[in-house]
Amino acid sequence: MGKLPKFMNAPGPTGGMMLRSILRIRNDAPGFLGSMQKQFGPVVQFPIPKPLAYFVNSPDAVDHVLRIANRNYGKSTIQYRTLSLVTGQGLLSADTAIWREQRRIVQPAFHHEIINDVVGHSVRATKQTIENLNKRTGEAVDVDSEMMNLALNVVGSALFGSNLNEQASHLVKATLDGLDVIISRARTPIFPASWIPTPINQKLKRSNRRLDETVQSLIEEAVGRDQSSPTMLDLLVSGLEDTQLTTKEVRDQVVTFIVAGHETVASALIWTLHLISSRKDVQQKIYDEVIAIAEKRDLTLNDFSKLIYTKAVLSEAMRLYPPAWLITRNCVSDDEVAGVKIRAGSLVIVSPWATHRNEKYWPNPDAFSPDRFLDETKILPGSYLPFGLGARMCIGRDFALLEGVIALAMLTRSFSFTPTVRNVVVLPSVTVRPKHGLPLKLVRR
Ligand code: HEM
Repeated sequence: MGKLPKFMNAPGPTGGMMLRSILRIRNDAPGFLGSMQKQFGPVVQFPIPKPLAYFVNSPDAVDHVLRIANRNYGKSTIQYRTLSLVTGQGLLSADTAIWREQRRIVQPAFHHEIINDVVGHSVRATKQTIENLNKRTGEAVDVDSEMMNLALNVVGSALFGSNLNEQASHLVKATLDGLDVIISRARTPIFPASWIPTPINQKLKRSNRRLDETVQSLIEEAVGRDQSSPTMLDLLVSGLEDTQLTTKEVRDQVVTFIVAGHETVASALIWTLHLISSRKDVQQKIYDEVIAIAEKRDLTLNDFSKLIYTKAVLSEAMRLYPPAWLITRNCVSDDEVAGVKIRAGSLVIVSPWATHRNEKYWPNPDAFSPDRFLDETKILPGSYLPFGLGARMCIGRDFALLEGVIALAMLTRSFSFTPTVRNVVVLPSVTVRPKHGLPLKLVRR
């Protein structure tokens, strides 16, 4: 092993090793982090002098950063600064000081009535998907784009109501355009400053302008509307009426919910279908479970707690393919993690992907084995974190689990899935997605 530079106080790769791994880092960053964890242990330091960069991966070290000492680890990182070009100071990217107050104000938008409605939205959206898929049984269908549409439909309905009007569709489109820009920025090694009028920056500017205009008119429509069955936007707007939120803050939260609640759920469903497509036994168990509960009728909130195996399948899929595969923090003041001194200003990287595949905590880690989640009390704290941990844990967790379980149960009740390609390449971006889509053959049950 080469000599480590003076600024390195934890084990980690040399500059030469990083150079030799450049292709792997570009093409398979989660796998690269997994190999770093195997080789160097719970805290890995990268040979970067500024900011000092650590990859923290053992359950206790991850738990320390994200939960126990969460106040000392903020979100002022490139990952969240880039995201905030679209989401502004929404809950996901807001740094600690702003976030605390925002979370209190935004929490009612995830009130149990909204979560109740998620069941109805998920049933309706999955029925639409099943209807589309019914026309295409027997052929290879790209399940990736189908799940993206399904998840967009659900989060859009929860935010704006089931009859998405034209404004709401514009908003969703402008958000996704903004996200495209973020993704292409992340893929370009040189980020042009945002004030330079490059085509990509112009696109970002245009989508942000459209976002601002559309949110403004949606808010105007929502103010004073009948609140007997409020949408998430209605609840945010009532914060506006109490002058708790400004229009810009409502805009940032709405855009955040679309970004945070769309591709993540889609990714979870896509990888679940990928994994079960080559496991007829797992498909059969889901099928038997859902048929025993509801042979034909629509699923309800009551059914959710009975879909135990179906939920275990989704949980295990999110262990192997956690949609949010990378979480970053900046260290605010000097700290120590697993015996390693972390100086203020350091970048701290956590990867649910790597931690979920650590063989010390997950026997036979690469095997798809839903039974691991049949008794969740057996799971070691900090070893499983698809929704993050601690104060900044996902506010949409219940939303996502309901939607994911209901969609998976309904899809498996209607179809059996078979793989059509041998090698599905992982593309890690904002979430993990299959690089070339996921073509599966569907047969009507
Ligand atoms: C399977 C689906 C989902 C996954 C895997 C997921 C994952 C995560 C993770 C890992 C975090 C923490 C990030 C960090 O610590 O830096 C997070 C935060 C967040 N998620 Fe989710 N999420 C999902 C669905 C949703 C949904 C459906 C919504 C909203 C409709 C949502 C809204 C948010 C928001 C607003 C935050 C920021 C919370 C805060 O900092 O207070 N997520 N999510």
